[in-house]
Amino acid sequence: MTNKGFSDLTKEELYSLIQKMKLDLKDKIIIPVHHYQSPEIVQFADIIGDSYKLAVNCSRSEKEFIIFCGVLFMAEGASILAKDEQKILIPEPTAGCPMAEMADLEQVKEAFDKIENITGKKTAPILYINSYADLKSFCGKKNGSVCTSSNAPKIIENFLKKGNVIFFLPDYYLGKNTAVKMNINDKKIVKIKKDLSFEKDKDCKNAKIFLWDGFCPIHQRFTVSDIKTLKEKYNDIKIIVHPESPEEVVKNSDFSGSTEKIFNMVLESKPGTVWGIGTETTFVSRLALENKDKTIVPLRESKCKNMMKNTPVNLAESLSSVIDYLNNNGKLKYEVEAKEEYRENAKKALDKMIEIVES
Ligand code: 13P
Ligand code: SF4
Repeated sequence: MTNKGFSDLTKEELYSLIQKMKLDLKDKIIIPVHHYQSPEIVQFADIIGDSYKLAVNCSRSEKEFIIFCGVLFMAEGASILAKDEQKILIPEPTAGCPMAEMADLEQVKEAFDKIENITGKKTAPILYINSYADLKSFCGKKNGSVCTSSNAPKIIENFLKKGNVIFFLPDYYLGKNTAVKMNINDKKIVKIKKDLSFEKDKDCKNAKIFLWDGFCPIHQRFTVSDIKTLKEKYNDIKIIVHPESPEEVVKNSDFSGSTEKIFNMVLESKPGTVWGIGTETTFVSRLALENKDKTIVPLRESKCKNMMKNTPVNLAESLSSVIDYLNNNGKLKYEVEAKEEYRENAKKALDKMIEIVES
């Protein structure tokens, strides 16, 4: 089947061909799917979840091929945790994450040294999983840990208890929202500006947490006025947002949490509950479809176009490339591998997160 061939099929033909390829490869592949993927992709999922759930499930899988339907940092993370003989694929290799590109390794190293100098304390980099292998490797080398939105408080707490200063990156909002939730004094939460100077009027010497200045363009859009509009329209509405949203938005919401937490809270709520949800809108629409006994509305329309780059057509191409590869007849579409130089320390940083969360 040529690439053109897949896109020429009707939806029904394409879907049944994907199911057939999945069945033919059932002992060899697993398809993890992030919550933000379109329903067209979700229907082919072996596991659906947030970044943490998918990373851990991939690390425990024995399947030879993992076809990761999410964005590149997620597939790369799975490749770092994978066994030597496993291959990780992503249907569309340009599915990046703008936030993951907001921290440059050389600048991060400079900021790390500045933090250690000004505080005189051991600094632990806590790296949001939305980042690439070079930063994960730096984090492991400095004995820090990766975190996700589902476990940031637990990871930060673990390092604060040991007397470390936290250098949180690259998402400013997740860091700030977590620090606020943990009741860290505002004077001791310091933003690192783009020129690597520290936010003014803060107690830098005794600071507990320094925050990089990255953000997610999809979640940064949400505003307090979006919440007010929904509250005026619906009487008993509950607002839940992803913690990549701005601080004021999280403060004015009833709950915040990872995509898996949002999924479960909505699923477990009583029929008739009304939810206003501040996260990627393809996911919110799926929640509405899967929870018809509840009213589910987005805080505002905000789509992650990178997540939408995986389609049934390129998923079919990935599956077909595995079949060809097993017949010694072609290259995998598209294999994701972290650079060898980063693997060991990046794995150390990811394993640290899993160790803390599972302990
Ligand atoms: P979760 O870990 O909550 O799924 O978040 C991933 C992400 O990229 C949110 O924008
Ligand atoms: Fe990255 Fe934001 Fe898309 Fe998540 S929603 S993958 S953080 S751009």
